[in-house]
Amino acid sequence: MTALTEWWTEMGVPVDIARVEALLKISPAGDERKAAKPEAAAPVAAPVRRRGAKTVADWATEARAKAAAATTLDALAEAIRGFEGSPLKASCEQAVVSDGVFGASLMVIGEGPGAEEDRRGLPFVGKAGQLLDKMLAAIGRSRAENALITNVNYWRPPGNRNPEADELAVCRPFVDRMIELSKPKLIVAAGGVPAVSLLASTDGIMKLRGNEFAYATPGGYSVALIPILHPAYLLRRPQDKSRAWRDLLLIEKRLAELGG
Ligand code: URA
Repeated sequence: MTALTEWWTEMGVPVDIARVEALLKISPAGDERKAAKPEAAAPVAAPVRRRGAKTVADWATEARAKAAAATTLDALAEAIRGFEGSPLKASCEQAVVSDGVFGASLMVIGEGPGAEEDRRGLPFVGKAGQLLDKMLAAIGRSRAENALITNVNYWRPPGNRNPEADELAVCRPFVDRMIELSKPKLIVAAGGVPAVSLLASTDGIMKLRGNEFAYATPGGYSVALIPILHPAYLLRRPQDKSRAWRDLLLIEKRLAELGG
């Protein structure tokens, strides 16, 4: 265990105390062999995984009730910040809720905060966020004037790993409520995580991107949704920017057609 936490530190990965504690609980003190294979010792099934006395389903029910009670974006943001159901909350700085214009016709939904977002409390403000801003500017959109930006997960996962199914499940009622309150005409799902999660798709982002889908919230609000490649991916693979450009042109056209 000591070796693992030292290795994380050397790699610049913040040590996830909650995870370490979970590993210690399933490993008798000093038994490094059992601690080395935590997944084998404790297989995880998202719907019954417990956090405290509550299951993920219990936390999702609580999130639904809190989200439904919020009638403004400020009230929703306060409910999210006060929510204790995400296992990620213990290992990050703060909840990152949204940025931009509430009520804008365009809503961008990303994967979740990284280090810079966690530090500043705003979505998409690191390098990928700067590229996202440029992409939006290319079609006359900005968070200052006509776009609302949020994520499918509000708390930074340790080491910037992808959020897990139960982490997404407890955020989802808040995501849906934000859509219902802000009433966008078009949602852009930035990257595979939000696209696959919102659409409950078995396809990957390469197949989903550049296509339009209908998204309906449990509260009955229906909206067009177009997945795009995540800007962080585009920073790593600039050769795919032509695909992103085609998708942006589609988004611009559809927003015009939808009266946005
Ligand atoms: N990537 C995301 O998907 N969301 C952010 O807020 C930042 C980076």
